[in-house]
Amino acid sequence: MEKKAFGKTGMMVTPLTFGTWGVGGAGWDPNPDETRVDAVAAAIECGINFIDTAPAYNAGEAERRVGRALKALGARDSVYIATKCANAFIDGQYVRSGRGDLILSQCEASLKNLQTDYIDLMIVHWPDPVVPYEETFGALNRLKEEGCIRHIGVSNFSLDQLRHALEVAEVEAIQLPFSMVDQKNAGTLRWAHEQGLGTMTYGSLGGGILTGRYRTLKTYETMDNRNRFYPYFREPLFSKVMALLEVMEPVAEGRSATLAQTALNWARSRDFIDTCIFGSQTREKILANVSCLDWELDDEEMALLDQAAQSLLQ
Ligand SMILES: NC(=O)c1ccc[n+]([C@@H]2O[C@H](COP(=O)([O-])OP(=O)(O)OC[C@H]3O[C@@H](n4cnc5c(N)ncnc54)[C@H](OP(=O)(O)O)[C@@H]3O)[C@@H](O)[C@H]2O)c1
Repeated sequence: MEKKAFGKTGMMVTPLTFGTWGVGGAGWDPNPDETRVDAVAAAIECGINFIDTAPAYNAGEAERRVGRALKALGARDSVYIATKCANAFIDGQYVRSGRGDLILSQCEASLKNLQTDYIDLMIVHWPDPVVPYEETFGALNRLKEEGCIRHIGVSNFSLDQLRHALEVAEVEAIQLPFSMVDQKNAGTLRWAHEQGLGTMTYGSLGGGILTGRYRTLKTYETMDNRNRFYPYFREPLFSKVMALLEVMEPVAEGRSATLAQTALNWARSRDFIDTCIFGSQTREKILANVSCLDWELDDEEMALLDQAAQSLLQ
């Protein structure tokens, strides 16, 4: 699989990164443990060299499954691991804190979960409006000096918050939501890319809605991520996304491709994006999605999809 420079980190990453929120389990569809570990293995076996995880993905479960898959494959040194800090999943609730002592203890737990002695990219999962950045990033600088982490990144930071973070630490990467159904971070991603940061998108499939798998409105449980995190599974966005899928369908058919491949190609074609994260719990879907790398959308197809996506944002 082709590889691209991830900003100025020196990391050469694949254009697709495998995301493990679903592999963690909480808030997504149920699957056996072995299916989830096999999903991580499938991503690596088909050439993806960047795995995104977090302690908040079911209280360390996602990290532990990544650790198991990497150990079984003996693949630790051939993939990059991004994990996160400053956000935890405790008793079924997400708890954010940028306290220095928590950053240090979360890193120690992540190293253990992942069965490794270094983390390639440690990302502050969400900004903490209370704890001073000096404390949060001071802890990360210390972890970097000690060799526990190699690079520092941020996620869900606004442009102002990113600028502030850059004053107190060598932040080298940013992870933000970006897809055909969520383009509000395009400016921040572009700016970060211009500064030489590695850029990675999450929710590249709109949490799954851009795959065409959801065609009827449904009510999800309170802590289901299709209820609490992604807004596309409710009106007014649901009907708008269904209209967007109608525009995507002939484009996908013309390429003998899936809607998921079309959505991933739309996101990865942006010149300010280094790698697009997608999540899946099954080998079959991962292999199918990776085939998006066999083709690219042309200018006419991009213009058509851009126009349809713009009308969704109005
Ligand atoms: N930094 C942050 O705050 C943050 C927030 C959200 C996500 N993330 C990261 O980004 C990753 C990706 O985001 P995401 O997982 O939330 O959303 P996503 O990648 O946009 O969508 C994932 C959903 O799409 C489904 N899917 C994938 N391929 C499919 C296919 N070919 N056909 C049908 N369904 C398909 C998956 O199903 P199955 O799982 O059932 O296979 C899953 O339900 C996460 O795993 C996580 O690593 C980071």
